[in-house]
Amino acid sequence: MHTSWTAESWKSCAASQQPEYDDFAELQEVLAVLRRLPPLVSSWEIDRLRADMTSAQAGEAWVLQGGDCAESFDDCQAESIASKIKVLLQMSLVLIYGSQQKIVRIGRIAGQYAKPRSSSTESRDGQTLPSYRGDLINHSPFSHSHRRNDPQLLLRGYERAAVTLNFIRALSEGGFADLHHPENWDLTFVAESSECERYKRMVQSLGDALRFIESIAPGPLTELRRVDFFTSHEALHLHYEQALTRLSVRGTGWYNFGTHFPWIGERTRAISGAHVELLRGVRNPLGIKVGPTAIAQEIVDLTRRLNPENEPGRITLIHRIGNQRVADTLPKLVDEIARSNARVLWICDPMHGNTVSTESGQKTRRFDDVLAELRTSFAVHRQCGTRLGGVHLELTGENVTECLGGAGGLTEADLHTAYNTSCDPRLNYEQAMEIAFSIADEIQQR
Ligand code: PEP
Ligand code: CO
Repeated sequence: MHTSWTAESWKSCAASQQPEYDDFAELQEVLAVLRRLPPLVSSWEIDRLRADMTSAQAGEAWVLQGGDCAESFDDCQAESIASKIKVLLQMSLVLIYGSQQKIVRIGRIAGQYAKPRSSSTESRDGQTLPSYRGDLINHSPFSHSHRRNDPQLLLRGYERAAVTLNFIRALSEGGFADLHHPENWDLTFVAESSECERYKRMVQSLGDALRFIESIAPGPLTELRRVDFFTSHEALHLHYEQALTRLSVRGTGWYNFGTHFPWIGERTRAISGAHVELLRGVRNPLGIKVGPTAIAQEIVDLTRRLNPENEPGRITLIHRIGNQRVADTLPKLVDEIARSNARVLWICDPMHGNTVSTESGQKTRRFDDVLAELRTSFAVHRQCGTRLGGVHLELTGENVTECLGGAGGLTEADLHTAYNTSCDPRLNYEQAMEIAFSIADEIQQR
């Protein structure tokens, strides 16, 4: 294992989940262009998020991370981006109101374009082609030309991330995110939602409180007219991530400038692997997915490798165990990591351990499993004397039909109506709001 890190030291480690390119020279040309393009985020923003993650670790803030399983280039449209921001803003309002805490908002957005796959090829009717690995790498339709791993898509992905981020910044700074006008965040089908009345009452009483405070405060509460909104994606494609890994101009070290919060997936977190090697050298706060088969000592070693100084705010462990096993598996993990004295923030991904297939072979998740894993996770952390400091969700602001159940009682027969995901099934708007209210209730119970 390496002791000294460089932006290239990952190249001598085993790199899993990487696409093979048939034209190496073309890849190198693209990477040279990428390396010259400006960073997508700044070191100041990344440091601010790291401070926020430190607060969450200290019990003073709560993390809401959510968005698509895989963003698609076609979906890079005003309405779709705005509706994701809207649902996350509405959820964060519910959480602020319920928890009386600062909420750290992080989208799975502006760069979530690469997916790990269980097999590098896919066969249909006797034809074998490379698997679809996300829009950053190739295209989903099953043909030779679509499935070719195309280096030019790295540039298209960078550009899509940049325009998405540009729009998010405009929305977070301008009147759109103003807490005085939460009606800006209403989604068209809100009136049909069963949580609608509860949300409206909450907004009403929040508005009353704001007007009261402003009537006695010396000036307008300008801080409430904007929000912080951070980005995240799985740091999977090593050449792409390296091209955006640079030294900060103010001399504070190396950062991944492609996103605020890169995470390492369940399939790529091998301690001697290339993903861990590349990310250990950057200052960003890091997420690590922790699945049901994780060995506690392995995770302890990983936290030491990625955070040798045991600095607060650096490591977030995102457990994604699955509702069936969480009660048995999580306590031991949490206990052993607590005993190692590793400073970590725990957040729960109640999605990825709960994926099931319907009889017709469609991937889905049951709302009840998602909620139950979340509730059990709260309880486990309470018992272990640790704290669940956030949630990681796959969701959309749209009225999709991808997960079963929830207040709308979505059934298998409904799945076909609006099954739009390009990867895993996401909570729709109504299901996401229901989760937010349940989390607020759980946090209040503490
Ligand atoms: C994901 O977050 O979409 C994902 C692939 O997760 P995991 O690494 O936890 O399987
Ligand atoms: Co997913």
